[in-house]
Amino acid sequence: MFSGLKRYPERGEKTLQAWDAADELILEHLSGIDHKGRKILIVNDTFGALSAALEDNGVSAYTDSYLSYKAIGLNTHGKIRIHTQLCDLEGPYDFVVMRVPKNMSFFEDILCRLSRHLQPHTKLICGYMIKHQADASFELLNRIIGQTTTSLARKKARLIFASYERTPTPSPYPLEVRIATFAKPFTNHSNVFSREKLDIGTRYLLEHLPKGTYPRVLDLGCGNGIIGIALQKLNPKSHLVFCDESQMAIESAKANYASYFPALAAHAEFHWTHSFEGQAAESVDLVVCNPPFHQGNAIGDFTAREMFQDAHRCLAKGGLLRVIGNTHLPYPQMLKQIFGNAQRVASGPKFAITDSVK
Ligand SMILES: C[S@@+](CC[C@H](N)C(=O)[O-])C[C@H]1O[C@@H](n2cnc3c(N)ncnc32)[C@H](O)[C@@H]1O
Repeated sequence: MFSGLKRYPERGEKTLQAWDAADELILEHLSGIDHKGRKILIVNDTFGALSAALEDNGVSAYTDSYLSYKAIGLNTHGKIRIHTQLCDLEGPYDFVVMRVPKNMSFFEDILCRLSRHLQPHTKLICGYMIKHQADASFELLNRIIGQTTTSLARKKARLIFASYERTPTPSPYPLEVRIATFAKPFTNHSNVFSREKLDIGTRYLLEHLPKGTYPRVLDLGCGNGIIGIALQKLNPKSHLVFCDESQMAIESAKANYASYFPALAAHAEFHWTHSFEGQAAESVDLVVCNPPFHQGNAIGDFTAREMFQDAHRCLAKGGLLRVIGNTHLPYPQMLKQIFGNAQRVASGPKFAITDSVK
């Protein structure tokens, strides 16, 4: 059923499959119930396996992730409507098929916003890999949707079932978060990195921002945009570019930038994308990056490497990339391979900051 499914980006890892046992369990369960002609929503399809299998049933899908969005596109034939914002859902749905995210704030937000698009007895079928599961998911489903039951575990995956029995629940997201030394609160959507408080790595980077003058500045993997906003404060004349793979990060960064710089908001750029792919070469003078150490549930430095490669391509000659990372991460070696130079400009017990010049 799954052969030929592709991941996005395709990294030449032929051995890495684009589905897992939780996808298999969900589809096996669905095949045993009559769902033809019913209105189905797929939520958080990782690499498009669920969308590809259900495409002919006229389903729609919701994802916050650009990589999933692209993978769903790669693995289907244009018949699926993909929503990238929770406010765009169009129920009422008969079935919701969902991969439970690791981030319980995001799960809560999804369930609350979804609750307005359910009808009594809409069935939720939620799949997860046991090692990634948080107990809080049961509590959230019970509170917002209805009583839960579970399937037997198979190949380290399991399903949770719930039938809609409650009334719509308002979402507590986005949060308004105050951060010392910033005059205005930050708007953080539920799937944004460190949504409840300032991350300690981000704080360290804020204390070590480059002091020069840079006409075009890229906040690569921007989260809520705090790094780019701090850089715009230091360089009021710079043109700011923000990019992230999470749509909620982009929405947060847009809201926060507009709150700090209403007069400049129409000119700043925001890109929902993988790394900085597809952008023009030599188009920026400074890139600042606090790379992700995981992509969905997969942990590794592959995204950081792609970000450094894109930064190298998109920097003008003489341009600077400043990177923060945990001290044990091999970022200096990776940067040296790509840029031919890497200089440690600050380090503490947990974090190190490295500069590379093109
Ligand atoms: C460690 S957080 C840094 C966020 C923010 N710059 C800060 O310092 O607080 C890494 C960010 O990279 C984003 N990210 C993850 N994978 C990405 C990808 N493939 N392309 C672009 N951004 C990605 C995450 O959504 C997250 O916002």
